[in-house]
Amino acid sequence: MLSDFALPLIKTLPAEAAHSATIKSLKLKVGLPKISPGQWQTGLRLNNSGLELPNPVGLAAGFDKNAEVHAQMARFGFGFIECGTVTPKPQPGNPKPRVFRLVADQAVINRLGFNNHGLDYFVRRLRRKPVSAQYKLGANVGANKSSEDFMGDYEVGMARVAPFADYITINISSPNTPGLRDLQGTGALEELLERCGSIAQLPGSTGGATMPPVFLKLAPDLIPQQIQAIIDALTAKGTWLSGLIISNTTVDRPSDLCAPEAGQSGGLSGAPLMQKSTAVLKEMAGALAGRFDLIGCGGIGSGADAYQKIRAGASAVQVYTALMYQGAGLVSRINADLAARLKADGFTTVAEAVGADLS
Ligand code: FNR
Repeated sequence: MLSDFALPLIKTLPAEAAHSATIKSLKLKVGLPKISPGQWQTGLRLNNSGLELPNPVGLAAGFDKNAEVHAQMARFGFGFIECGTVTPKPQPGNPKPRVFRLVADQAVINRLGFNNHGLDYFVRRLRRKPVSAQYKLGANVGANKSSEDFMGDYEVGMARVAPFADYITINISSPNTPGLRDLQGTGALEELLERCGSIAQLPGSTGGATMPPVFLKLAPDLIPQQIQAIIDALTAKGTWLSGLIISNTTVDRPSDLCAPEAGQSGGLSGAPLMQKSTAVLKEMAGALAGRFDLIGCGGIGSGADAYQKIRAGASAVQVYTALMYQGAGLVSRINADLAARLKADGFTTVAEAVGADLS
């Protein structure tokens, strides 16, 4: 994904090898563009979190799992970059192969299972964000597969990354760690929100640093009753949260998938996820009525897709899979197209368009 120019070469490698090669070349910092994230003048301040983004297009979690290349990725024009998921201890993840391109569907299935170098390594790299940088840096925290206390892992993760992150994401929606998504159920979610909320509000839990805004990342595979249960848990124990990221990958396999890899197990991302994740986003946005900032993620491959998420209630968006197919030039294309669409519809800011499609 390094640049649109290198893309044809990268695509000849298996998906995970291509990703490793991309991370290695990014670390070398050769031939990177220097796109100002503020050039589209679509910057916005998220209401609940107070986060000031230079533009609403972010890099979703999973690309820079170990926080090694956020400064380099920012040079493609992202307004914000989310690193991780990081777990307290390093872990290898699932056996390979575990990432599959579904080329005919412009999609990917992954069952990586939170492969990462652990919090110590992550925090050392997170703090390398240049002081003058305009982009906002997110830290996405998760639980070790072998942990006996998933909730405790989130508490540890939050406390450790807080001094160095502009925002934190609690990821309870990866389908590749058995039991993780159960944390979205009412009782478990209330307990998790209570425990993480006390870390967020406890002076001293972060060694003196203030807790940055915290987001909760949800799955798209939620039926209306589950959505309502999450809203109830947020109302009861989650009012300290700034917002939600909707969504992670899906375990669904739409019947119209064409690629032979469609039968692989794991989370599906990319184009086939767009409508499903936007539907959940819209439902949440309608029910939450501005009480939380929403970040729309899932299947975005164009400015039109990003704009659809914004009109459905997202204040900002994130992309990942489409970058593998279209290259990192996509970030500029989405931003430019978004600015044009806002103007064409008579909006002067992103904020004015947020939720425009909610009746
Ligand atoms: C992901 N995603 C992800 N999400 C997360 O919260 N933590 C993670 O570690 C990962 N890892 C990961 C690896 C790979 C290879 C992919 C493709 C995706 C999910 C990602 O952040 C995003 O929510 C979904 O991919 C949907 O967005 P796209 O890819 O359709 O734009």
